[in-house]
Amino acid sequence: MEEQTKISFEAPRGMRDFYPEDMVWRNRVFDAFRAAGEAAGFEPYDACVVESYELLARKAGEEVGEQIYHFRDKSDRHIALRAEMTPTLARMVAQRQGSLAFPIKWTTIAQCFRYERMTKGRKREHYQWNCDIVGEESVLAEVEVLGAACDALRRMGLTNADFRVHVSNRALLSELLAASGIPAALHAQVFLALDKRGKMPDEEIAAMLRDGGVDDAGVKATFAIMDLKTLDAAEALAGAGSPAVAQLRELFRLAGIAGFAECLEFDISVIRGLSYYTGIVFECFDAQREFRAIFGGGRYDNLLTTIGGDPATAVGLGFGDVVVTELLKARLGADAAAPKRGVYVGWMFPEQRDAALALAAKLRAEGEIVNLALRKAKPKQFFSRAGASSCAKAVFLGPDDVAAGRAKLKDLATREETPLEL
Ligand code: HAM
Repeated sequence: MEEQTKISFEAPRGMRDFYPEDMVWRNRVFDAFRAAGEAAGFEPYDACVVESYELLARKAGEEVGEQIYHFRDKSDRHIALRAEMTPTLARMVAQRQGSLAFPIKWTTIAQCFRYERMTKGRKREHYQWNCDIVGEESVLAEVEVLGAACDALRRMGLTNADFRVHVSNRALLSELLAASGIPAALHAQVFLALDKRGKMPDEEIAAMLRDGGVDDAGVKATFAIMDLKTLDAAEALAGAGSPAVAQLRELFRLAGIAGFAECLEFDISVIRGLSYYTGIVFECFDAQREFRAIFGGGRYDNLLTTIGGDPATAVGLGFGDVVVTELLKARLGADAAAPKRGVYVGWMFPEQRDAALALAAKLRAEGEIVNLALRKAKPKQFFSRAGASSCAKAVFLGPDDVAAGRAKLKDLATREETPLEL
């Protein structure tokens, strides 16, 4: 007999199985994503997780580019699993650029794959809620995107005190670097190096900067810029009339009107690891800074032209499911995923089974959620199962109930009983 190799029951490393208890959390998070997107007028869109590698291939030095899963299909096409949605969005917009009525506001929940080093909050597969506005220059676009993200966090059960959105502006950083004598051609390299801050020692970042062509004085000036604590201090260095400072001030003012200014703070150290951002950038963290970034995004005005489309301004965010679920479990408690709802219907002997099925059908037709017991049970056994289930109420049919044509609907939390006609 051929020997069978034993297959591991674990999902491939970094990929996730969602058991029913995990789906409860995922649904809570996805429901909030969808509701917040809809409430802010974003239209849903979607695309296949498989993309052409050419679209996703990136400049060297960018982490995401190195993490792409890619392979050749049977016709030797170079194919990749998307690591993020933004290139796909840009491709879809470019394809219809002549006919879309800009500005457009689009949203999706995209499964993404990145061959990452696995740490807390980082998997090789995650779902990422995206909200993007294409074709709007004004900072109101940033406000709408950020407002939707804060709304989603509140819908999940968090309060404004639980998270902070750190906001900066790459254009401001460019102005500051230029004022310090670092030529514009080097800025992209400087951004990628600075994004590594906190993840590697400053000496290594200084070495990266020098390798990128920044001289010693430039390295010193760059670190001094990163130490600026307030927007006023940044403005003093950039000079009065800085357009990038004005954009940030307008963002904070509008967020005040929209009611979420208290969630925002200026933080020059927010760079973002993706090279396509051109303006305001932001990253959200839990207030205690225990977890990795909850969401991140910003303005990317050149991506459409980079992939060969017509020029179009754009701003958007990516909000993953992994970190926020960890945060929700920590802040709300592991049992808080879903409130109990629906009715558990049970029966004692095979003679009551049909009546139980008929009751389940009637309640379902009335719009109730019903879990019908598949096997007979003694009352004690049934109620202990019902108590452990996701149902809020239970009905148990014994011979007497069916004979009388009447049963009791029991509230499992209060133990209160109400009569129910069969
Ligand atoms: P990103 O910062 O690379 O941005 O990812 C956005 C969010 O996705 C992160 O803040 C995190 O919540 C989640 N995320 C990313 N990688 C992983 C991972 N390996 N495991 C778990 N969660 C992860 C982007 O992807 C941009 N395309 C966002 C964007 C949209 N910018 C404009 N529009």
